[in-house]
Amino acid sequence: MDSLLAPGSFGDIDLANRIVMAPMTRSRATVDGDATDLMATHYGARATAGLIVTEGIAPSEVGKGYCRTPVLDGPHRLDGWRRVTDAVHAAGGRIVAQAMHCGRVAHVANKAPGAETVAPSAIRAEGAMYTDAEGMQPFDDPRALAADEVRAVVDEYRRFAALAMDAGFDGVEVHGTSGYLPAQFLCTGTNRRTDGYGGSVEGRIRFPVEVLEAVVDEIGAGRTGLRICPGNPFNDLVDDRPEDVEETFGALLAAIRPVGLGWLHVIRRHEVNQGIFLDNLALARGLHDGALVANDSYDGPSADAAIAAGECDAVSFARHFLATPDLVARFAAGGEPERFDPRTLYTPGPVGYTVLTG
Ligand SMILES: Cc1cc2nc3c(=O)[nH]c(=O)nc-3n(C[C@H](O)[C@H](O)[C@H](O)COP(=O)(O)O)c2cc1C
Repeated sequence: MDSLLAPGSFGDIDLANRIVMAPMTRSRATVDGDATDLMATHYGARATAGLIVTEGIAPSEVGKGYCRTPVLDGPHRLDGWRRVTDAVHAAGGRIVAQAMHCGRVAHVANKAPGAETVAPSAIRAEGAMYTDAEGMQPFDDPRALAADEVRAVVDEYRRFAALAMDAGFDGVEVHGTSGYLPAQFLCTGTNRRTDGYGGSVEGRIRFPVEVLEAVVDEIGAGRTGLRICPGNPFNDLVDDRPEDVEETFGALLAAIRPVGLGWLHVIRRHEVNQGIFLDNLALARGLHDGALVANDSYDGPSADAAIAAGECDAVSFARHFLATPDLVARFAAGGEPERFDPRTLYTPGPVGYTVLTG
């Protein structure tokens, strides 16, 4: 019977166990978006996870949303990331880079000078984000991408994938949740386009499908994954009708099924309307043939039970890894994760990141 501690594989990537470290933005890159030695220490310390998915990394300056988050947009970024992947590999681990284009969930104060904020449609997200320069600021008013610019963003993901391989990553996960650019294309409330990248379901899924095809073309399906959370309203995502959610994600998964992604990373369950929940794992199981990684609020026993029941092949943990780098050994011994300090989630420096105070 499969279990949390059994070895496994996602496409071309072999895993020592089914415990995945979920992506977590921690804002410890340089202001300019380079990976730091602190990040190498942080990830290296968690290398006993079967697989680490990095924090979201922007494929371009325009795609960067948050302060001190990393960018992977050219060879000048490689040295920093090689130190990260070397640290993980030296400790026997596997690590994939999460490609995260923030689209409209951004503020220009967090980007390089001149980098603008773009989206499928010129609709501002309700809400605000922290900037080092100006404190809390409302999200930018985005400019709608022209169709040829959308294709250029697809090429940025392709470049990202090639660079990720050069940096020594084992693969790439495309971030398709939480209100960032691919999700902005999928939702009817954020995508009001009338060209081939909007309107019908086929139009709304086109951007993420093209992104995945480009990444797969560059590095192979066995090293490519996708993260989704159908129904997640985070960052002001809204669909006109609750039934749009199931229809859109059903169409997306059906369209990419022939590609044969190495893994699908699914946040398991979300309320799509008052009291109506979508079983995202069941939706994904029915429309995806590769490995299925489940996420959200698992502990060791519940993760083990989900794998044994065949609901998923692996489980990812985010918060449990914050203050418990040796989560795998902790779970193996039947122990509990340490408590983390929420005040140091996004602060610069080692405290709460590589120096754990509890
Ligand atoms: C500090 C923090 C940063 C996060 N950053 C990202 C991110 O960059 N990309 C992403 O896909 N999810 C991100 N998430 C979401 C987590 O990957 C995960 O889905 C969520 O925390 C639920 O899993 P858990 O119950 O194991 O913590 C973040 C979560 C936290 C707590």
